[in-house]
Amino acid sequence: MARLHLLSLLILAIHTIWAHSAAIQQPQLEQHSSTSRQRCQASSTHCPDGTVVVSASDQHADFTTIQAAINSLPNDTSTQTILILAGSYKEQLNITRSGPITLLGETTSPSDAAANLVTITWDAANEDSTGESVDNVYSSVMIVAPTLDASLTGSGTTGYPVPDDTPFGNRDFRAYNIDFTNTYAEYSAGPAHALSFSRANGGFYYCGFYSYQDTIYVGKLGNAYFYKSILAGQTDFLYGFGTAWIQSSEVLLRGCGGGITAWKGTNTTFANKYGIYIVDSSVHAANASVAPQIKGTCALGRPWNSQQRSIFARTYEDASIEPSGYIDWIVDGVGRYEPGITLMAEYAVSGPGFNRTGRVDGGVDTLLDPRGYEPYSTPASVFQDQEGRFGDVQWIDWETVQGGGH
Ligand SMILES: *[C@@H]1O[C@H](CO)[C@@H](O)[C@H](O)[C@H]1NC(C)=O
Ligand SMILES: *[C@@H]1O[C@H](CO)[C@@H](O)[C@H](O)[C@H]1NC(C)=O
Ligand SMILES: *[C@@H]1O[C@H](CO)[C@@H](O)[C@H](O)[C@H]1NC(C)=O
Ligand SMILES: *[C@@H]1O[C@H](CO)[C@@H](O)[C@H](O)[C@H]1NC(C)=O
Ligand SMILES: *[C@@H]1O[C@H](CO)[C@@H](O)[C@H](O)[C@H]1NC(C)=O
Repeated sequence: MARLHLLSLLILAIHTIWAHSAAIQQPQLEQHSSTSRQRCQASSTHCPDGTVVVSASDQHADFTTIQAAINSLPNDTSTQTILILAGSYKEQLNITRSGPITLLGETTSPSDAAANLVTITWDAANEDSTGESVDNVYSSVMIVAPTLDASLTGSGTTGYPVPDDTPFGNRDFRAYNIDFTNTYAEYSAGPAHALSFSRANGGFYYCGFYSYQDTIYVGKLGNAYFYKSILAGQTDFLYGFGTAWIQSSEVLLRGCGGGITAWKGTNTTFANKYGIYIVDSSVHAANASVAPQIKGTCALGRPWNSQQRSIFARTYEDASIEPSGYIDWIVDGVGRYEPGITLMAEYAVSGPGFNRTGRVDGGVDTLLDPRGYEPYSTPASVFQDQEGRFGDVQWIDWETVQGGGH
């Protein structure tokens, strides 16, 4: 106890000295640091000027719903922050503005996504008037896209034809310590998204995404980075057209169906690395009762079209993973896997889910060596802007990531 006490005093002293010097030399820096962000999240103090506060119950808050707070923001390029106080909010969020937005969830455990106090729920799956599932993203808990057209999935190998004159949407979206939960069903029952993210750049830190089917959709020109987050689902629950990087996170298997990843590649005039990269993470059964039911049966992914690109790197895989790793997606007797085009890969993975013989026998899983992995080994080497330039990562909160998030 005494040692702990001394340690916290020391930490407090360091923080105080650091915050003090930062305040004198660089007032703007202090405003954006992780320390002040965490204070804003814990006590509604040290928040950036102009922060809009949302609470379903606190009379002092500016709004009772998050969408009302979003609608109150100017439709311009200014940087805006919304602090969401602890509670459960049942609403669908739609963010179209291009200026930077940060959504902060109130928390006293800022480094633990399992302890989040803010949950946003929505209860819907995509279906047409006959109840048939459709490939679209109306049902998401949160939609970040400049227009409705930009957010549409569409079917076929190339998906919905987004009009050429569609602008890019949000250039710097950030969310911290928020759970996005689609409560439609406790099993795969059609696309029931937690997140729909297209034509935008965004980082999710210590967030939770819970559904069963199609939990996370990163659509066309979507660049999404996830850090120390929880991504839960059963069927094709990480899917899309864009680029997603999942760093130091937990991928929770609530059942098996389709694959964990299902990506659709796109032909562009420049070489692209659109795809999904799951790095330094853990893929495992959601709990001890589901683990024996799904042992050896969950596929790492299946190709939504033949240009799927996905890599699990330095990631732990529990015994839920099936021996072949990935599987082909066979429609009307025709497999979508194409050697040399489809890249469904693993690099330096560990755990009982990795079966080398099974991978080789399955014939669709690429086992990368360091040289093969190198071109995909950092966010800067895969995230591209609309014109195809690599290194589009200035919207990632590097202070939180490099600091390990404290
Ligand atoms: C926001 O501004 C953009 C760019 O001027 C415009 O295209 C868009 O229609 C505006 N959105 C709304 C909801 O007014
Ligand atoms: C989001 O808001 C925009 C602007 O009001 C609207 O055009 C669009 O249809 C909305 N998206 C969804 C999925 O409801
Ligand atoms: C991409 O281009 C290749 C080669 O031209 C073609 O075979 C493939 O069908 C195209 N894929 C899509 C999704 O357009
Ligand atoms: C375990 O996870 C499954 C799938 O999400 C869920 O249905 C079940 O209720 C969970 N069981 C426990 C004991 O939490
Ligand atoms: C590994 O995969 C092979 C099939 O290729 C299978 O025979 C073997 O039982 C698997 N091992 C384990 C531990 O699942």
